[in-house]
Amino acid sequence: MNIQPAQRISRVEEYYFSRKLKEIDLLRSQGKAVINLGIGNPDLPPAPEVLDELANAAAHPGHHGYQSYVGIPELRKAFADWYRTYFNVTLNPVNEILPMMGSKEAIMHISMAFLNPGDEVLLPDPGYPTYLSVCNLVGATPRTYLLDPARNYEPDLEALAKQDLSKVKLMWVNYPNMPTGATGSRALLEKLVAFGKAHNILICNDNPYSFILNQNYQSILSVEGAKECCIELNSLSKSHNMSGWRIGMMASNAEFVQYVLRVKSNMDSGMFRPLQMAAVKALSLPSSWYDEVNRNYRERREIVFEMMDLLGCTYDPKQVGMFVWGAIPADVESSRALSDKVLYEADVFITPGYIFGERWDTHIRISLCTKVPDLQDAKARIQKLLGK
Ligand SMILES: Cc1ncc(COP(=O)(O)O)c(C=O)c1O
Repeated sequence: MNIQPAQRISRVEEYYFSRKLKEIDLLRSQGKAVINLGIGNPDLPPAPEVLDELANAAAHPGHHGYQSYVGIPELRKAFADWYRTYFNVTLNPVNEILPMMGSKEAIMHISMAFLNPGDEVLLPDPGYPTYLSVCNLVGATPRTYLLDPARNYEPDLEALAKQDLSKVKLMWVNYPNMPTGATGSRALLEKLVAFGKAHNILICNDNPYSFILNQNYQSILSVEGAKECCIELNSLSKSHNMSGWRIGMMASNAEFVQYVLRVKSNMDSGMFRPLQMAAVKALSLPSSWYDEVNRNYRERREIVFEMMDLLGCTYDPKQVGMFVWGAIPADVESSRALSDKVLYEADVFITPGYIFGERWDTHIRISLCTKVPDLQDAKARIQKLLGK
């Protein structure tokens, strides 16, 4: 027999963290107590009332069937209220919001709904690796744009506008930015909307980090006229410590939402109702919830800054989000080499920057999703490794 996989899978590799976590599991099975400072997977629990709602709703015999493809109305309304309260954006909960199973799946569904083979997609460099792999999976053509630290990791839209953009269909943006922690200015969001309109490009802002160590909540949809050419993604993964629940959403004009629903409704059969009900609770938590989450991250970030200092890295202390992004010293060969050294010699895993774009082999990213004692332990191990 000769059963070959589809050609499209030769255009992607297994996700970096999927491979790396297997390696970490193997090291652990060999007795190495690896501290994983790689992935942005919140370790803190969701709010108690959210867990109560999930348990109570799951106990109801009528809550176990297939659900609506567009989510329960209460969830769409809760997302709309959340956007009004925190982002000053008005969304019609009937047809401008589509609950999704996380923003990662939304990236796939949006790409399936809008991209044809040969369409070009503007991708941030550095950027979340899924934008590139999904672009490749759907047969579109990736075209990266630089996020230069000298420009606060914002794109140079004037320079881009001088290039031939006739084949560009979609542009991924992500502010607050991962991995760089840049917030993105209001002026940038306004320029992006104007850029999308001028060049007939769909601008997709992936916005899961607004609430993490960031005071200024921003949505691209708050820019006048943005709904005509923009989609925004959001998620409860980071803001509500619910990454495993797989709850997110897309928001845009009703027509764009319909295009994505045409794909999505053929792929899944709705989200477990108790999860949706608990998500409604999460979205209506008081703002003190975010303060409490951030109190933890702020304390952790201080230790991660110290780790960066030990490693001789330079970083912006004002960056936001659940990671610290730093430039490695000039005399260190590469982020790969540094990450491997720290993993194999100190049993601490930190993410090498190259996974966000080859040129970022000059940087590393350390996650804040680890409790203080383990962060202290990781710091001590690095200190020992470096003989400091
Ligand atoms: C920039 C960015 N977008 C999307 C996601 C995926 O989030 P979700 O859990 O909502 O799928 C992540 C997760 O790490 C991310 O960093």
